Amino acid sequence: MSTKLTLLQILSENSGRYVSGQELADILGISRNSVWKAANKLKQQGYNIESMPGTGYRLISASDILSQDYMRENITHPCRIQVFEKVDSTNNVAKQITDCSIPQIIVANEQTGGRGRLGRSFFSPAGTGLYMTLAFKPEFGLDRAMLTTAAAAVVVCRSIEKVSGLSPKIKWVNDIYLGEKKLCGILTEAESNFETGTIEKIIVGIGINCFKSSVPEELAETVGFMENPPRDFSRNELAAAIANEFFETMEHFDKPALLREYKTRSFILGEQIRIFNPAIARSMGLSPEKEKEGIKARAIDIDENGGLVVEFLEGRRSREMETLTTGEITIRKISD
Ligand code: BTN
Repeated sequence: MSTKLTLLQILSENSGRYVSGQELADILGISRNSVWKAANKLKQQGYNIESMPGTGYRLISASDILSQDYMRENITHPCRIQVFEKVDSTNNVAKQITDCSIPQIIVANEQTGGRGRLGRSFFSPAGTGLYMTLAFKPEFGLDRAMLTTAAAAVVVCRSIEKVSGLSPKIKWVNDIYLGEKKLCGILTEAESNFETGTIEKIIVGIGINCFKSSVPEELAETVGFMENPPRDFSRNELAAAIANEFFETMEHFDKPALLREYKTRSFILGEQIRIFNPAIARSMGLSPEKEKEGIKARAIDIDENGGLVVEFLEGRRSREMETLTTGEITIRKISD
C-alpha cells in the first residue's frame, strides 16, 4: 500500500483524534517531512486533514470530500464550477443557468432526484458517487453535437483508467460497465433555439458509482462500483480528469479517432444482444409477449454518427441490417 493510503488508513482508524507527526513517521518508517508531504497530497486530493503544529494530524471526516478549490486548481479549461452537498439533479441545476458561454461544471455529493435515460431515475446516494454535469454553448455544428454522448463515454473511460487503473468498457450508447455491472450512466440533453436553428446549450450529466454503498434490492444485480482499484483516487481527481479530458476532446475534435476509440472500448460489438423498442418490434409483427423478451440481433458496428449497426437474428426481418439511433432504444447483451 502507498504511504499516502497507509497514512489515510491510520488517520481514519483514529477517528478524528490527533496523531503526532513523530508517531506517524515511526509507523510509516519515513521522516516527519515525508509525513507532511503525504498529508499535503491527501489534502490536495480533497481529504479534509487538519494539521496542528506541535499536536499532529487528524482526519476530520473519513469520507472523500468534494472540493471546489481542488477542482479550480486542477481543471485547466476556463469554466465556472459549482459544488453542492445535495441537489435534486445536477442536470436540472444546469438547465436553470441561462448563460453557458462560459462552460459550467456542476458537481454534487448527493442527488435526491437523479435522472437517467427514458425517464428512469438514477440512484445517487451521498458520499459514494460522482454526480457531475458539464454544460456549455457549443461552438460547433450538429455533426459534432450528435457525437457528444459518445465522446463523453470515451472520456469517462479514459478518466477512470487514469485515476484508478481500472479498465471499464462502453455499452452503446451511454453506459459504462466494469465486468457485468454498470458503473456509470450518461444523460445528454440539449436546448435549441428554433428561430435560429442553433443549439443553445448542451448538458452532459455523468453519474459514476465510485465507492461501495448499499443499493435498493432491484438494483443489486446490475449496479457496480469502482471497488478495489489498483490505485487509490478521490472523486475530486476523477471530476477534474473528466472535465479536462472532455473539453480537450471537444475542442480538438478528431471524429475518426474518437469513433475508433469508442469501438475499441465497446464490449458489445460482435456480440449477440436483445433490442427493446416497440416500433422495431411492430415492424416485425411481434406479439406483446415476444416484444417484452426483446429482439435477438448481433451488434455489428458503430456508424459515423455514433449509431449502432445491428443484424437481426430472428423474426420477419432476420438477416436484415438496421442502424439504431439513441432515441427510445434499450439493448442488453446476451450473456454466454
Ligand atoms: C442513465 O443511466 O440512464 C443515465 C444516468 C445519468 C446520471 C447523471 S448523475 C449527474 C446527472 N444528473 C442527473 O440527474 N443525471 C445525470
